[in-house]
Amino acid sequence: MTPIPLRGNKKAWLFSGLSGGTALVLAAGLVLAGGTEASAAAGCQVGYTVNQWDTGFTANVSVTNLGVPITAGWTLEWDFAGNQQVQQGWSATIGQAGKHVTAKSPSWAPRLETSGTAGFGFNGSFTGANPAPSSFTLNGVACNGGTPPTTTPTTPTIPTTPTTPTTPTTPTTTPTTPPPAGTHVGNPFDGAKGYVNPDWSGEVAAAAAAKGGALGTQMAKVGNTSTAVWLDRIAAIEGSATARGLRGHLDAALAQQSGSTPVVAEFVIYDLPNRDCAALASNGELTVAQDGLAKYKSQYVDPIAAVLADPKYAGLRIVTVVEPDSLPNLITNASMAKCAEAQSSGAYVQGVQYALNKLHAISNVYTYVDIAHSAWLGWDSNLGPAVNLITQTIKGTTAGVRSVDGFISDTANYTPITEPNLPDSNLQVGGQPLRSAKIYQWNPYFSEAAFGTAMYNAFVAAGMPSDIGMLIDTSRNGWGGAGRPTGASGSTVDTYADSGRIDRRLHRGNWCNQSGAGLGARPQVSPMPHFDAYVWIKPPVESDGASKQIPNDEGKGFDPMCDPAFHGGDQANGGNLTGALPDSPLSGKWFQAQFEQLVQNAYPAIS
Ligand code: BGC
Repeated sequence: MTPIPLRGNKKAWLFSGLSGGTALVLAAGLVLAGGTEASAAAGCQVGYTVNQWDTGFTANVSVTNLGVPITAGWTLEWDFAGNQQVQQGWSATIGQAGKHVTAKSPSWAPRLETSGTAGFGFNGSFTGANPAPSSFTLNGVACNGGTPPTTTPTTPTIPTTPTTPTTPTTPTTTPTTPPPAGTHVGNPFDGAKGYVNPDWSGEVAAAAAAKGGALGTQMAKVGNTSTAVWLDRIAAIEGSATARGLRGHLDAALAQQSGSTPVVAEFVIYDLPNRDCAALASNGELTVAQDGLAKYKSQYVDPIAAVLADPKYAGLRIVTVVEPDSLPNLITNASMAKCAEAQSSGAYVQGVQYALNKLHAISNVYTYVDIAHSAWLGWDSNLGPAVNLITQTIKGTTAGVRSVDGFISDTANYTPITEPNLPDSNLQVGGQPLRSAKIYQWNPYFSEAAFGTAMYNAFVAAGMPSDIGMLIDTSRNGWGGAGRPTGASGSTVDTYADSGRIDRRLHRGNWCNQSGAGLGARPQVSPMPHFDAYVWIKPPVESDGASKQIPNDEGKGFDPMCDPAFHGGDQANGGNLTGALPDSPLSGKWFQAQFEQLVQNAYPAIS
């Protein structure tokens, strides 16, 4: 789980043509600026909105089929009026010959029912003007609008101002009459007790005892926290003599159940072919080239689903975190060979769809799809395409939008829940908005609460149900200790942001074993509106990656972002040092020095 978040992200210069942070929105096709709709013969209707800067733009296109159902693939065509050039598309295969553009449905979503809408988008370049196309055809039939849809097109609304999160409320108490075992409830964490992994807890207890003293006492207190179990290879399902497998964990979870309070246990589904395609530290055992998708389905997802469906476990609430980093990598890192292969083969999208189909079919299993974090997808030009791709992927499952319970951000990352000294990313300092500071690179979201709220709104606008819930992995995003600032001051955006930010990373693209980080908020139910819980998904003490080459049989590589002496590239982390702690073991392995630091810098502190 080792993202290179900034690769492919849009940087500040891309936004230089915008005034006051407001994106220029053009609308064309048959849904015209201001929402006017032309109508004539039935066929199709197109929404075409553009965010543009000096010579580049992002277009979001929605096409509604007003004719007979299309079952074997759709093709939308248009001619550019100017010299626009498509560069990179998503959720459709887009080709251009001269001014003529052809967008074909993705292989995983060939159907377009009557009144059904498909969305896709692309980045493009232009010089001079960027007029919207004036006409479109769908499978050769002119889009004349026809009967206007009852709802407006599906382009997500992307808030530009982060919402200030409310103060977390205390966990709700156990309801007096819990729903019957196996019922699929709205929030699986509500009224439930978190599963404490006895293997992890035992190791923490042993390390604490060996350490002794005040620090040892604090370390011991962490061991009773609920953490997730990562099913990070096929062999993890069965387990071994030293590490219990999936049944072993579920049996232990049953044993922790007392009275009528259900236990909620979290598992990370993490074995897609070409895993961690933009980095090296968490590469996995399956590859696209060696039939990885078929193996993923039959040797990984199917056996997991078979165990989870055992009626013996029906009383547990089983939360699954689905494939960290995978779909986000298709948005920002598709230019890298392994990600391009994951994209063109459909392996990530189809793998996620397959997992959702199998997991959602089990009524006491809950699915949360990974949405990376604010410092990766926060820019509008990443957020919109990500919401689009993820929503399309989910809509392509058997149960459609109902196959997910929500989304999770910050998995195994370090971005804080809030930036208490910098609550407004548009605050003017020295005549500039705070988000223009070097550390934020015009990203409007400094924190996971703001990002998660924006993502929630964008997903609902894109057609996801409003009862979806967000999660934040808060296991290592605490940033306490002596270095934690208590206020912000300064006359430039850079001095102000750097004096006030609690996230002390050298760059927000740094992700491996971060020096100075602390344990974050303890798991908590319903901490804010639309958030189901704070959870500890990355078990603190487990490394993000090795600081040097270490031979292993798990497919894991050496990523220099885990070497404290390495300066990353411009895209990865602005050429800064990585901020990684020295002498780290392979990802997933016990890293004592990091654990001690996390406990010392915990926020809230371990009392
Ligand atoms: C590793 C997994 C590990 C997980 C939790 C990931 O980065 O690749 O092997 O289980 O972290 O520590």
